[in-house]
This record gives sequence, C-alpha cells and structure tokens, in this order.
Amino acid sequence: MYSNPPPSQCTRTGDGPLVFGHRGARGHAPENTLLGIETGIRLGADWIEVDVHLNAGNPVLMHDLTLDRTTNGRGFVADVPPDYLAELDAGRGQKVPSVLDAIDMIDRRAGLNLELKAAGSAAIVVREIRHAVQLLGWDWSAFLVSSFDLQELRQLRALEPRIPIGALYAGVPLDYAASAEALGAVSVHLSHEFLAPNMIRDARARGLAVHVYTVNDPVEIARVRALGVDGIFTDYPERVLVLDRVA
Ligand code: G3P
Ligand code: MG
Repeated sequence: MYSNPPPSQCTRTGDGPLVFGHRGARGHAPENTLLGIETGIRLGADWIEVDVHLNAGNPVLMHDLTLDRTTNGRGFVADVPPDYLAELDAGRGQKVPSVLDAIDMIDRRAGLNLELKAAGSAAIVVREIRHAVQLLGWDWSAFLVSSFDLQELRQLRALEPRIPIGALYAGVPLDYAASAEALGAVSVHLSHEFLAPNMIRDARARGLAVHVYTVNDPVEIARVRALGVDGIFTDYPERVLVLDRVA
C-alpha cells in the first residue's frame, strides 16, 4: 500500500479537460512516431500518449507486439536486431523512435504519458525519466506512466515513487478505483463506453483524476466532457479543443 501520490499535471485547472494526443495524433500522422508527436503538440495537446515496447532491452514506441501492422518490417518488436528496427519505415518515412527520442522531440512543450506494453519495462523506463529530470530539466509531474499491467506499475512505483502513475482498465473491475488508490496512482484511465457519473465520483473521492480513452466522435467527446472528466485521449486533439472555444 502506498500513500501520497506525487503531484501531477494531471488534474485539470480550467473548465476544459486535458487533451491527450493518442499515439501522438493518430488521426493525422503515423502512430507512435516523432511526426505524430509533433503533430499532437501543434494541434494543442496538453499531453502526448505513446506506447512502449522493449527492443533488445531498449524502450521504443510501438503499440503492437509485432512490427507488421505499423511498419514495413516483420517480426516481434522484442526480438528483431536493433539495426533492423532502425531501418524500418513506420509511415511517411518515419523511424521507430526510442523513448529518449520522444523526450527530445517534446522538449518540455507537453506532458509525456508513457504506456507500458511490455512486462519488465519499468526499470528501464525509470532510467529514461530520471535522465530527463536530472539532465534535461523536466519535472517529474510532466511524466505519467500508465499500463494495463498494474504489477508493472507497482514495480515502477517501488523503484521511483516520484514518477506519477495512471492505472489503465479495459473494462470496469469492481475494485478499480480502490486498486488504483492502493497503487498510489494519480489517475484512472477508463474506456469511454463504460463511463458513468458514479465512477467519476468514486475516483474523485479517492483523489484520482479520471481520463477516458479513446474518444474521437464529436458527440461522444461532448458527452464525456459534460460528465466532467479530467482528461480525454483522442486521435484528434482539435476536436476536444474546439469545444473549449464554444463552451
Ligand atoms: O492509454 C490509453 C490507450 O492508449 C489505451 O489503449 O490500445 O490504444 O494503447 P491502446
Ligand atoms: Mg496506448
């Protein structure tokens, strides 16, 4: 059991929800690439969400276990030689970035949500975040590490409690908010179709921010916004932000 989650930029301060550019800005640019990250920032995202797998022990941006869908390569991300990975096209001539590439590209212009997709990645991601904080002037609160693998998050928190963590849920487990609280998370990340007002109340009562994924339909964006969520993951950051201007 952990208490006192670290401060985070994850609680909204204005009227509108925080905007998380999903896989960069997947609706506009190849996912999990530097072009996607830059596009998300230019469209006004507060946070950039990317997925993290390990390749030969190094953290790289990739959603799937394999390279097949998002690159011109084949095989498991974890197993291909780094030289092979470095030559691949991840869309529009983009390379597969490392976590440090993403940190350099963002250059503190947005928060960075690293979603861990691989077991055993916590320690190496802690190393990269420490590098950003200690050498590049990032704040701990500009990072948010999330995962469906809560064991991995527990390990990360034990290694470095200054890194804010967000608990991801695919459905709605009975004890989801309690387990996130016990983990010392700052936020719960819920799929939008399951979102209901009582869930937001329960999470808030435990001091947890509520972020919902992945919301692209303008009508659904307006619905979750009206429910008062703290953050929205979207492939189209501008669709959330346009509602700020008419609110
Ligand atoms: O982190 C929110 C969302 O990205 C989780 O689902 O499959 O798009 O990584 P997925
Ligand atoms: Mg993700």
